[in-house]
Amino acid sequence: MACENSSPRPAFLLLLCFLLGTASARLSSTFYFTSCPSALHTIKSGVNSAVSSEARMGASLLRLHFHDCFVNGCDASILLDDTTNFTGEKTAGANDNSIRGYEVIDTIKSQLESSCPGVVSCADILAVAARDSVVALGGPSWRVLLGRRDSTTASLSAANSDIPAPTLSLSDLITAFSNKGFTAKEMVALSGSHTIGQARCTTFQTRLYNESDINSTFATSLKENCPSSGGDNNLSPLDTTSPTFFDNAYFKNLQTQKGLLHSDQQLFSGGSTDAQVNTYSSNSATFMTDFANAMVKMGNLSPLTGSSGQIRKNCRKLN
Ligand code: HEM
Repeated sequence: MACENSSPRPAFLLLLCFLLGTASARLSSTFYFTSCPSALHTIKSGVNSAVSSEARMGASLLRLHFHDCFVNGCDASILLDDTTNFTGEKTAGANDNSIRGYEVIDTIKSQLESSCPGVVSCADILAVAARDSVVALGGPSWRVLLGRRDSTTASLSAANSDIPAPTLSLSDLITAFSNKGFTAKEMVALSGSHTIGQARCTTFQTRLYNESDINSTFATSLKENCPSSGGDNNLSPLDTTSPTFFDNAYFKNLQTQKGLLHSDQQLFSGGSTDAQVNTYSSNSATFMTDFANAMVKMGNLSPLTGSSGQIRKNCRKLN
């Protein structure tokens, strides 16, 4: 199109291109209203059926969107499979043998390709599926902005450096989120995601056997399923009280030193975020509102719009 043409353009055309570019760089909740009116319904049904077969899938789909957005923006780069001449993000430390839900996205995508071929991006499916997952498990809802396009690249190195590790200290967690534009308060709200889902023994073993800020009864029961060596893939719930319900129990657990990951307990360890944990623990509605707002903000991380990127036909590979 004229905007991409390198030949000299009259000033009015440059201005038009600029205005179009700015308009299309903005996401909108009505993006598929005419191009694919059934899109949101299709995604919600796919999520609800996956979550009713296995409640944990709601947690896995929420995390999938997070790991997409923190690596060069919400562009579905995480969904690209490795091939002989392409290395994606699936083997990154935080993703390998850990991220789940790819098949659920495939199913939703193939349904959308039948009803509205080439219209709904994989990145938007991830954003809507994350919201629908939280709702399916009893959490807050929010309006998902749409119009993201899918990347034609992925970055294993960015996935390895930008997704925060469970070994991080409070100040490193604050920095990791600040690097993506989030405040410490938003980081605490988003960490409330750990009110659902499971973690492998390997991600909390060091805490379990070496740290003292862990409730001793809690630690004893965890040790049954997570030995001091081995048992790497054995699972424990991130929220010991209500792992399949999106509530504020995660914050109450932190107050009694029942955070599963080192990074979880860091949020309530005598530091600057203790007060926020107390607020969310005593006021569930405040947590729900802050969480929903932070999720909208996370979904806005560097979306590809306009003529950049593509609408993948198959989320796992480039067109
Ligand atoms: C604050 C920094 C964070 C760290 C260090 C962290 C780390 C982890 C780790 C180590 C696991 C377990 C992975 C495994 O066992 O293989 C996990 C699970 C999970 N994380 Fe986080 N996470 C963080 C923030 C977030 C955020 C911001 C979200 C969502 C917005 C999120 C959503 C989840 C969910 C839902 C699960 C459970 C997934 C499942 O059961 O499949 N996490 N996280």
